[in-house]
Amino acid sequence: MSGRSGTGLRRARLAVLVAGLVAAPAAAQAADPEARGRLLFLQCRACHTLALGEGHKVGPNLNGVMGAAAGTRPGFAAYSKALRESGITWDEAALDRFLAAPGRAVPGTSMAFAGLPRPEDRAAVIAFLARATR
Ligand code: HEC
Repeated sequence: MSGRSGTGLRRARLAVLVAGLVAAPAAAQAADPEARGRLLFLQCRACHTLALGEGHKVGPNLNGVMGAAAGTRPGFAAYSKALRESGITWDEAALDRFLAAPGRAVPGTSMAFAGLPRPEDRAAVIAFLARATR
C-alpha cells in the first residue's frame, strides 16, 4: 500500500532529522538530558501528545502517565489487551524496559515503535517525559 510506504519514508526522514538534531550540540545536551529528551521525543510526537487535555493520536495522550497503571489514560479506547493486562505501573525502570523494545517488553502491544537501543537516550526521554506530563 502506498500510504504505508509513504509513512515509512516520512518516519525514516524524521529519524534522520532527529539524529542530526541530537548529534549537533552534544556537549550542551549531555549537560541537560531533558533538552536532549525533548529532541528525541520528536519521534514519539507522531503518535503522542503530552499536555493535559490535548487529544489522543494513534497513541494515548501521556499526561499523568508517571506512576499510573499501564493502559489507563482516560478516553483512549485503542489500548491492546496485552498492555491493559500487563500489570505494569509506569516508573522509570518500567519505562526503560518498555522503550528499549516495546514489542519485547509487552508482547502484543500495538505501539509500532522499534525502540530506543541506547540507555542514555531512554534516560533522556524519560527525564523529559516525567516533567512534560506532570
Ligand atoms: C507509531 C506510533 C507510536 C510511536 C512512534 C510511539 N508510540 Fe507510544 N504508544 C503507541 C500506542 C498505539 C500505544 C498503546 C499501546 C498498546 O495499547 O499496546 C502506546 C503506548 C505508550 C505508552 C504507555 C501508555 C499507557 O497509558 O500505558 C508510553 C509510556 C509510550 N507509548 C511512550 C512512547 C514514547 C516515549 C515514544 C517515543 C520514544 C513512543 N511512545 C512512540 C503509539 C506510538
